Amino acid sequence: MALLLRNVELHDVDSYVAMRCDPVMMAELGGPLPREGIEAKVARDVEAASTDASWILMIVPDDRQPETVAGCLFLWSHEENGATISEVGWMVLPQFQGQGLGKASVRELLKRARDDGRWGTVHAFPGVTNMASNGICQSLGFTLLGQEDIDFADRTLRSNHWAIDLAHAIE
Ligand SMILES: CC(C)(COP(=O)(O)OP(=O)(O)OC[C@H]1O[C@@H](n2cnc3c(N)ncnc32)[C@H](O)[C@@H]1OP(=O)(O)O)[C@@H](O)C(=O)NCCC(=O)NCCS
Repeated sequence: MALLLRNVELHDVDSYVAMRCDPVMMAELGGPLPREGIEAKVARDVEAASTDASWILMIVPDDRQPETVAGCLFLWSHEENGATISEVGWMVLPQFQGQGLGKASVRELLKRARDDGRWGTVHAFPGVTNMASNGICQSLGFTLLGQEDIDFADRTLRSNHWAIDLAHAIE
């Protein structure tokens, strides 16, 4: 049994709905997103992943059961205060939470990013009350830089700002 991280595909709509339209999953992200528009979001993400501009990876906990998706990882670059930064995000569905899968998946993603070489320092912005997400940052060796308000899906979230220098940190 091995963890598999694979690019998002068009048939991942149900997983996106379970992650983004569920009030529990989205409790720390400002509440659920509307169901309409998810197909378009998946299609945009498939396109972005196919060009390798962003990494949008579905978490498959057991490569012998590729149809079972436990969550999703995101790594992308964007402008922040006039500079380009790399940002990572993650989601693990409730039935797979609390088993170390989020941490293991993010560690694998960061190793790939380090080996790829283009991402530099990677930033994460979990909500200040998101204990599990802040736990991932803490236990993977991110450094806490402070708090800030960030925009996410047309809402503003009070977030911790964590960063990790891939060249030195990931085992
Ligand atoms: C955040 C999330 C991805 C965590 O995934 P997970 O697989 O449950 O996390 P893990 O089991 O790998 O735990 C990661 C670390 O956080 C800690 N942790 C997990 N849940 C915790 C909680 N409720 N309170 C405190 N610490 C917690 C774990 O102990 C572990 O730290 P350790 O290695 O030092 O023991 C998952 O809860 C989730 O998707 N939540 C909803 C969506 C979301 O908030 N996404 C993140 C947006 S920034």
